[in-house]
Amino acid sequence: MEGDAAGAGAERVRVELGARGYDIHIGSGLITRAGALLRRVLPMGRVVVVTDETVAALHLPALALSLAEAGIRYDAVVVPAGEESKALAPLGDLLDRLLALPVERKVAVLALGGGVVGDLAGFAAAITLRGLPLVQVPTTLLAQVDSAVGGKTGITSRHGKNLIGAFHQPLAVLADVASLATLPPRELRAGYAEVVKMGVIDRPDFFAWAEENGGRLIAGDEAARAEAVRRSCLAKAAIVGEDEREEGRRALLNLGHTFGHALEAEAGFGEELRHGEAVAIGMVLALRLSVRLGLCPPADAERLARHLAAVGLPTRSPAPSAGRWTPNALIAHMTRDKKVADGRITFVLARGIGRAFLARDIPRADVEAVLAGGGAS
Ligand SMILES: NC(=O)c1ccc[n+]([C@@H]2O[C@H](COP(=O)([O-])OP(=O)(O)OC[C@H]3O[C@@H](n4cnc5c(N)ncnc54)[C@H](O)[C@@H]3O)[C@@H](O)[C@H]2O)c1
Ligand SMILES: [Zn+2]
Repeated sequence: MEGDAAGAGAERVRVELGARGYDIHIGSGLITRAGALLRRVLPMGRVVVVTDETVAALHLPALALSLAEAGIRYDAVVVPAGEESKALAPLGDLLDRLLALPVERKVAVLALGGGVVGDLAGFAAAITLRGLPLVQVPTTLLAQVDSAVGGKTGITSRHGKNLIGAFHQPLAVLADVASLATLPPRELRAGYAEVVKMGVIDRPDFFAWAEENGGRLIAGDEAARAEAVRRSCLAKAAIVGEDEREEGRRALLNLGHTFGHALEAEAGFGEELRHGEAVAIGMVLALRLSVRLGLCPPADAERLARHLAAVGLPTRSPAPSAGRWTPNALIAHMTRDKKVADGRITFVLARGIGRAFLARDIPRADVEAVLAGGGAS
């Protein structure tokens, strides 16, 4: 924990990536102090804020005021809210709007919003003029603990989610936990699933902290929110610092995502199932699969499911009906995932809470049994 010259109560987590390293600032009210915090890291006193309509109405005025107070010139480009903005046509539109301003090489793109804005604006920054500086100001819990950190940016193709993208690390991340006060409870819970994920991967003490404090966090406690963001960012920064381009260990961050993406695909990536909800179910399935393979104590899988349920997250896949949500349909989605190499699915399994590892060549029968609701064989 470090104090910050630009404001009391802010904490910093460093992402160690040599010349591409950066600070994640975490605290309450950081958007109102953004100008002062960013002045030192921006290559010139000008930014283009990219945000969505919902976030623009709630948080753009405070950000704009703080940039103006710090003498930072800004333009704002507002895109429609929702996953549909993470696609080729909206990207083309955004690029045209950036170039029409016009932007030059040292103008930073500032992504103000959830993971959709972060991924879209981040990718636009990565490819406009062969790379503009980027600042992430995440306003959803999911974006603060996960998507704004680590440099993955991209959009969805009609062939699948996040298939077009680039690694583009930001200059800084400002996670203002006060901005979460306007987030709908369902979005907050969905983001919370990624917090739990960090504990299950390699931080058992963080998982225990979450069991203790998760309810308070969901109910609105800002200190608990800041602590969850700080610990999640520490966990993610450690993994990204070791394996920036996902050649190995970074794949652990996909815990719950192999099953989760299949569930999201079956739901049509819409309102029926939010990403974090799918990850919650996916993590439970990953631990049940680990139990079935004799790798994980059943009590750990139950402990995970119990905590997720306690904060109001789903822990089971919808029941199969009319050919939907069947094990076969879900496995078909999994084999189309971009993480499949040579037709072999990589699973993130666990020897217990805090002991995740990567595994290949899991027998299809075991995956099917777990999807069908079967436990240990
Ligand atoms: N790049 C990565 O490493 C990475 C990691 C995880 C997820 N993602 C991506 O993140 C996306 C999901 O992000 P998300 O869950 O933040 O969704 P989102 O960006 O769509 O935000 C969810 C909704 O909340 C609204 N919103 C955002 N901030 C708000 C606030 N403070 N108050 C009120 N409303 C607010 C948005 O307008 C939107 O309607 C997915 O596309 C996923 O692929 C990327
Ligand atoms: Zn995720």
